[in-house]
Amino acid sequence: MSELLKINGLTASAEEKELLHGVELTIGEGETHVLMGPNGAGKSTLGSVIMGNPEYKVTDGSILFDGNDITALSADKRAKLGIFLSFQNPIEIPGITLSEFLRNALEQVTGKHLKLWDFKKKLKAAMELLEMDTSYADRDLNVGFSGGEKKKAEILQLLILEPKLAILDETDSGLDVDAVKTVSKGIEEYRSRTNGSLLVITHNTKILEALNVDKTHILAAGTVVAEGSGELVNEVIENGFEKYIVRE
Ligand SMILES: Nc1ncnc2c1ncn2[C@@H]1O[C@H](COP(=O)(O)OP(=O)(O)O)[C@@H](O)[C@H]1O
Ligand SMILES: [Mg+2]
Repeated sequence: MSELLKINGLTASAEEKELLHGVELTIGEGETHVLMGPNGAGKSTLGSVIMGNPEYKVTDGSILFDGNDITALSADKRAKLGIFLSFQNPIEIPGITLSEFLRNALEQVTGKHLKLWDFKKKLKAAMELLEMDTSYADRDLNVGFSGGEKKKAEILQLLILEPKLAILDETDSGLDVDAVKTVSKGIEEYRSRTNGSLLVITHNTKILEALNVDKTHILAAGTVVAEGSGELVNEVIENGFEKYIVRE
């Protein structure tokens, strides 16, 4: 299977503080990987660095995507190449409706103009799948949305953009059981519709039940300390991270 993402010795810092220390992580095309680790391990930081968030500075190592070195590329160029990051805390944007935001994002990423009618059809189908009331399309992005609705809006983006690599940062946190099911359904739909790869950051097994996890990575204190099959998720949930954390 060909490699989609290859991270070599990635070291990154923010505000002069080194947060990632030589991270190694490879994801094949069409694979589903899980990233776990204690709070503050650097999981969200890794997601942001893969996406090209300028808050973080890569001081060593490289990120290859589809065989190209993207370490120095801007976030919008990475999005055009097919990298998507859902945020742990989605932002609210007054003045832009969810529908406008998604159509704009899709046009940015594909570089193509989409007929309004075709876009609306695509949007409606995705919203129905996620059991979102279609009136949300005309509301300002995330403004007044509940935690669950914000997360659904993120999965909606995933279905509209169909990226090659989707990084989902705790998309399931703060969701009730039904909403987790709906979000899982959206992720499954993305997996069945595309040959996209997933990097799922989560503490929750529920979201993974429907997904076939190929590999699990454990991040602690800014480095990958263990890797394993999908089974490792259950072991970690049962026994905690303690045994993977090396103390000086
Ligand atoms: N922009 C930033 N500036 C300074 N420190 C940061 C920044 N982003 C994250 N950190 C720090 O990096 C560490 C890892 O954070 P984070 O990646 O959010 O962890 P996780 O997602 O695994 O819980 C934390 O100590 C956090 O305070
Ligand atoms: Mg985080």
